[in-house]
Order: sequence, then C-alpha cells, then structure tokens
Amino acid sequence: MKVLVTGGAGYIGSITAKALEEAGHTPIVLDSLLSGPQAFVRDRIFYEGDIADRALLRRIAEEHPDLHATIHMAARIVVPESVEKPYEYYRDNVAKSLELFDELAALGLNRVLFSSSASLYATKEGFEVTEDDALAPGSPYARTKRMIEEVLADLAVASDLRAVVLRYFNPIGSDPDLESGIYAREPSHVLGQLVLAARGQKPSFTITGTEWPTSDGTGIRDYIHVWDLARAHVRAVERFDDVLAQVDAPSTVINVGTGAGVTVRELVAAFQRVFGSEVPLTEAGPRPGDVAGAFAGVDRAAALLDWRTELSLDEAIASALAWGEKRQEILGYE
Ligand SMILES: NC(=O)c1ccc[n+]([C@@H]2O[C@H](COP(=O)([O-])OP(=O)(O)OC[C@H]3O[C@@H](n4cnc5c(N)ncnc54)[C@H](O)[C@@H]3O)[C@@H](O)[C@H]2O)c1
Repeated sequence: MKVLVTGGAGYIGSITAKALEEAGHTPIVLDSLLSGPQAFVRDRIFYEGDIADRALLRRIAEEHPDLHATIHMAARIVVPESVEKPYEYYRDNVAKSLELFDELAALGLNRVLFSSSASLYATKEGFEVTEDDALAPGSPYARTKRMIEEVLADLAVASDLRAVVLRYFNPIGSDPDLESGIYAREPSHVLGQLVLAARGQKPSFTITGTEWPTSDGTGIRDYIHVWDLARAHVRAVERFDDVLAQVDAPSTVINVGTGAGVTVRELVAAFQRVFGSEVPLTEAGPRPGDVAGAFAGVDRAAALLDWRTELSLDEAIASALAWGEKRQEILGYE
C-alpha cells in the first residue's frame, strides 16, 4: 500500500515511514522541513511543501493514484511555544489541516489517520485513562489537537472522509537501526535531561514535582518505545476499514500507549539500571502547567488493532541512549 505521511521528516513520521517500509508498504513523505531534518527523509519519495498547498496535494494524488491512506502527523509541537505564539499554532495545526482534509476528500483520498495526544486528558483518579474519559487540553498546542479531532469527527459524519485518531502517550527511543530520533539541539523532555545529567553536561537531574498523589509523589507517564508506536500506525493503516466497521462509526479514537504508568522516580531507576551508573538528583516544585499525568487504557487498541506494545521500558531507554551516541553522525550536531 502507498501511504501519504505528512510530517514524515519528523521524529515519529520518519520512524513510521520506516515501519511502513518494513511491512512492505510505500510511504510518500510530505513535509515542509519547518522543523524535521532533511536527513530523516533518506531516499524515500519526498514532496517538500506545505500540507495546505492544494496544488501540491493534487500533484501527489496524480503521481500516486493508488494512495491508500494519509497519516497526518505534520504539526507544530512545542507546548511553551504554543503559549507564546497561539496564532501560528492555530493557523498551522488547525486551519492548514482543514485545507488538507478538504483537498484529500475532493481527491477521493478518504482514509485519514491523525496524530493526537494524551495531553488532552483531564487528570483522573487512578491515572488510567480510556478514550471516553474527560478531556481538559491545557495549552494552545493541546487545544489544536482537540479541535482537529472534532473537525475530523464532523467531517466524517458529513462526507465520505473516514478518520482514525491515535492518541499517543509518551514516545521515546529510536528505530532499530538508529536512523532517526529526537533531533532538538537541547532536548527538554525528561529523558533528554537525564542523559545530560548522566553525561555530566548538567550538574544534576531535577525531579520537578514530588507531591503529586501518585505512589511516590512524582508525576506519572506512559513511556512507549517509538518503534512500537510506529508499528501501531502500520496496523491502523492495514486495518483501517475493519476498525471503523468494528465500531460501526465513521471515525474513532484509539489510545496508543503501553498501559503501564511509570513515575519519574521509577523512570530514573530504570535509566540508572540501563545506563549503569547513578545520576545526581535534585528535587523542586512543579513547573507552571505541570500535571500529575496519566497512562493509557489499552483495551480498545488491543481489540481494534490487535496490537499491543512489545518492547520494554529498559529497551526504550537503551534505544534513546544509543541514538544519543549516534545522532551527531546523522544530524551534524551533538
Ligand atoms: N513527540 C511526542 O511526544 C508526541 C506526543 C503526542 C503527539 N505527537 C504528535 O505526533 C506528530 C509528530 O510529532 P513529532 O514528535 O514527530 O514532531 P516533529 O516536529 O518531529 O514532526 C513534525 C513534522 O511536521 C512538519 N511540519 C510542520 N508543519 C508543517 C506543514 N504546515 N506542512 C508540512 N510539514 C509540516 C515538520 O517539519 C516536522 O518534520 C505531531 O502531530 C505531534 O503533535 C507527538
């Protein structure tokens, strides 16, 4: 199958493109290179351009009349930046996605998979969230994701467009051959911070928030190996029509996580185990906007996609560390 992957030069998009190839499919990458590096496109079929460029979308459809589905991952994704630049986030993530969906529908390309986020969920007692639980998107970024979910649900009712929304939890790691990974120059996420502290590039790792109502007081997340996440997309593309037939609806939402909650202290312990040495720790209060967190209820993913994660937290951490060693070779910076 040929699959259009918007944002296919990005972290998750390039790894999903690789998983599609390994399953015998052909990804067609559409990316503006707004943030994703050209190196992640590798030798794939590539259209450099914007998701809202309708002429470009028509050209892609003309050159690939056998496109089976679109995985729509292209987006601006930096939460604090979305607070500072809401216009850019609503324009690029929401308005441009509308143009994309309208043109795809006009071209008869009616299968859309959309990358949404676990950051939409409201905090829930017990921290396990299922797809029908309450939502409380806490930033302009998260609100763009929620808006697109609603747009897709409405379009699917009104037209032939069909949508499967995947709510990702916390992807970490690289692909099995270490070809893509986190490419930010100064990774701000928890694993990146741990690596910096472990390598002595910063004095210590700071646990932000130690009084959450979790087992040890630190925030809880559901860290999923990005290769497992990529494989979930392959399943969702292959079973797209079957998924919607099972739910008997024109669109649906599926959590994509491991189903296990991991606190920051547990993550640090796993990291030290894999890395093989202690990381100096300090503790501080929560940062503005921090939440206790959540982990995925994964029954729907298992039922609809016949998919669950196969790789462990330790494997995901080892993969992230290995990418950290390799990435300069690919990106040209450390
Ligand atoms: N990384 C995470 O933790 C996470 C969690 C939940 C959801 N998601 C979602 O997954 C998707 C992929 O995330 P990622 O981490 O790979 O991000 P990324 O920034 O690495 O990838 C996004 C890609 O989209 C491209 N892009 C942005 N705007 C574009 C436009 N208008 N036209 C064409 N290309 C454009 C960028 O150049 C980039 O390559 C995003 O939609 C993101 O919101 C990510």
